[in-house]
Amino acid sequence: MFDNIAPRYDFLNHFLSLGIDKIWRKKAIRILSDYKTDVLLDVATGTGDFAIAALKLNPSKIVAFDLSEQMLNVGRIKAEKLGLSDSIKFVKGDSEAMPFSDRQFDAITVAFGVRNFENLEKGLKEFHRVLKPNGVAVILEFSKPKYFPFKQFYLFYFFTILPLVGRLISKDPSAYSYLPESVMAFPDDQKFLSVLKSCGFSKSRQKRLTFGIATIYIAQK
Ligand SMILES: C[S@@+](CC[C@H](N)C(=O)[O-])C[C@H]1O[C@@H](n2cnc3c(N)ncnc32)[C@H](O)[C@@H]1O
Repeated sequence: MFDNIAPRYDFLNHFLSLGIDKIWRKKAIRILSDYKTDVLLDVATGTGDFAIAALKLNPSKIVAFDLSEQMLNVGRIKAEKLGLSDSIKFVKGDSEAMPFSDRQFDAITVAFGVRNFENLEKGLKEFHRVLKPNGVAVILEFSKPKYFPFKQFYLFYFFTILPLVGRLISKDPSAYSYLPESVMAFPDDQKFLSVLKSCGFSKSRQKRLTFGIATIYIAQK
């Protein structure tokens, strides 16, 4: 699916979120600036936006990792245009079986990625394995707003307007109906914090964003 939508992914991402996704990534990077970020891994990097934003932290190494070759290719071209080809290494692979040795990274970033894992626990245990002791994972993911009237407005937008516009522009019949369905099925809030704990993260907390549409989870090894 991501290979299919790769050419129009960036445009749709910013258009359908009215540009808020960029603000959320920036917030996550600000949180990360309190931690050691010398060697960084951006999981489910897609077209590399989070990895590019993370360059602000001046890491000595960033690996941008994803399962979809087409998404990575868009990212590689974008990095090249920005003169960043030497700063970010794009690597193809599955987050649930990462080709990295134990305790390699100071920090992991993921934006809108963990929701797509086939086996969430397997992926998060891999994060824990490749992080150095005290390393941190900053996970930005959609969540479900809880309160009237924003919740009702959001659900209308998410289940009617977004799939329609997404289908028309991406030309993929299902990708943008998959988005709201996967968000509704995903364990957000306290449930996600419990999953992090069960995967070995000793300290974790969350910061809800924009009435709870998205959440940043900060999990420390
Ligand atoms: C919604 S995109 C997010 C891209 C990017 N992080 C962003 O902020 O725009 C989700 C990405 O997760 C990737 N993905 C899904 N499952 C994966 C897995 N098991 N391992 C690695 N990448 C995965 C997809 O290929 C896709 O590029």
